[in-house]
Amino acid sequence: MDSTGRGDEHSGHRPGWWLGAVGYEVYVRSFADSDGDGIGDLPGLRARLPHLADLGVDVVWLTPVTPSPQRDHGYDVADYLGVEPDYGTLDDLRGVLDDAHALGLKVLMDLVPNHTSDLHPWFLDACSGRDAAHRDFYVWREPGPDGGPPNNWVSHFGGPAWTFHAATGQYYMHLFLPEQPDLNWAEPRVWAAFEDILTAWFERGVDGVRIDVAHSLVEDPHFRDNPLLDQPPSQDGGTGSVFDRFAHIHDLDQPGVVDIYRRWRRIADAHDAVLLGEVYVLDPGKLRRYVTDDALHSAFAFDAIKVAWDAQEIRSTLAPYVAACDDRLSWPLSSHDDPHAAERFGGGEVGARRALAYLTLLCALPGVPFLFQGDELGLDDAVLPEGVAEDPITLRLGVRGRDPQRSPMPWEPGPALGFTLGTPWLPVGSNRGPADTAAAQQGDPGSHLERTRELLATRGRLPALTGHAPLEWVVDEGPVVAVTRGDEVLVALHVGDGEGDAQLVLPEEARLCYATDPRAFLVDGELTLPEDAAVIVALDEETAP
Ligand code: GLC
Repeated sequence: MDSTGRGDEHSGHRPGWWLGAVGYEVYVRSFADSDGDGIGDLPGLRARLPHLADLGVDVVWLTPVTPSPQRDHGYDVADYLGVEPDYGTLDDLRGVLDDAHALGLKVLMDLVPNHTSDLHPWFLDACSGRDAAHRDFYVWREPGPDGGPPNNWVSHFGGPAWTFHAATGQYYMHLFLPEQPDLNWAEPRVWAAFEDILTAWFERGVDGVRIDVAHSLVEDPHFRDNPLLDQPPSQDGGTGSVFDRFAHIHDLDQPGVVDIYRRWRRIADAHDAVLLGEVYVLDPGKLRRYVTDDALHSAFAFDAIKVAWDAQEIRSTLAPYVAACDDRLSWPLSSHDDPHAAERFGGGEVGARRALAYLTLLCALPGVPFLFQGDELGLDDAVLPEGVAEDPITLRLGVRGRDPQRSPMPWEPGPALGFTLGTPWLPVGSNRGPADTAAAQQGDPGSHLERTRELLATRGRLPALTGHAPLEWVVDEGPVVAVTRGDEVLVALHVGDGEGDAQLVLPEEARLCYATDPRAFLVDGELTLPEDAAVIVALDEETAP
């Protein structure tokens, strides 16, 4: 019996390689194409792994590479153990794993347990009749009294969360597309199937999984209506609108979902692997329930990807997450679902400067900062021509959607900026040019790529940033956000208020370890910090560079 009094508590194991790591998300379809079909693939990724190792990241998360009809670009899985032919073969994936490991990189696969593709054999069987062997793998309900959907739940991608299946006379549930039927986690065979899937991937040498919509697996057993909100949050032009009009108290973040991860944690720990949840719960106290010693190792703090370029908002948003979850969070700078940080913070050169400064702050927080491909090049989002929409959000709702952040990675000057010898599945963007490419930035000390590399190297050299040194928020107001880690390191970000450089008085022995902007300087304990810039400062002589 342990100190919590729960006899079967699993004592948390966290792989040494995870603590202090830096993560990087690869959107496989847009990373690198090896065969000229315009679609990124595993051999293309394999050839570019040295770019990631040189950048100084430790963990690479691959968006789904399993076979899929691509209605939601891999997040509609038709076979959990196969490899999508557009991306290559299982041998190609083994090649990626082998090379990544040889370069010192760990690899996380994307696991999608909330729903399958409607072409998954389980769903095809489930549709064959009410008595089908896999019927209960999915969520089926009788029509409501008026013959309509069983309740008022709506899909993230617009429309009801229910589709009527005429042949068997029931509705099935889908929190996303009708082609993404939700699995029924009240069915023990679903639990067993995913325990086998996890084990198989870990035995293939995968170092962990990023768990898609990890807060969504379990539903209210009574399928009660969600209440309508009096005041829906303001719209961001994303998936929102109808979905955001409801308080999702019966379809998301339900009791019992963490029990699933308790089972998975034992499997992960036996393989020195990590469980990283896409837990879209914007409340640090609630998020904390997922990241315990016997459940998920880490979860993304999505508020970090939402904050405006505002010092007070950055402080008041991030501080409660650190207080509640300490080093059990991952801090996304950008992702395939959200605009690049440079775009969010104003676009162009200013946006890129701010994104690097913000990444510097994320590098100071306990836990794992995560870059999304292109962040290291300072990319904002691609400007795409009309009529090329691929994202179901744009196709269904007619809003901006997620294509602009998913455009191909610019590698080198030339056709399609080195992504493919063919026609890219999404255009590279009319705002992208040779100067944006990795090749052009490589070796130029002032480039975004080299500044990012230096940032990650500096972080890696400072045990206060990668270890357990306690974090303190040291400036409570004004345009500078600053934290210390122990007595050793201070990281300061000047968000700017149009008043020009900020001055900070530090101990005399303080030394500058890293600055996003060469105009930052520190003399005799006086730090001058330009707007939109951040620095890492060693506070004692031992830590000084
Ligand atoms: C997650 C993915 C997103 C996908 C959705 C449905 O949020 O990140 O890209 O559309 O789940 O699987």
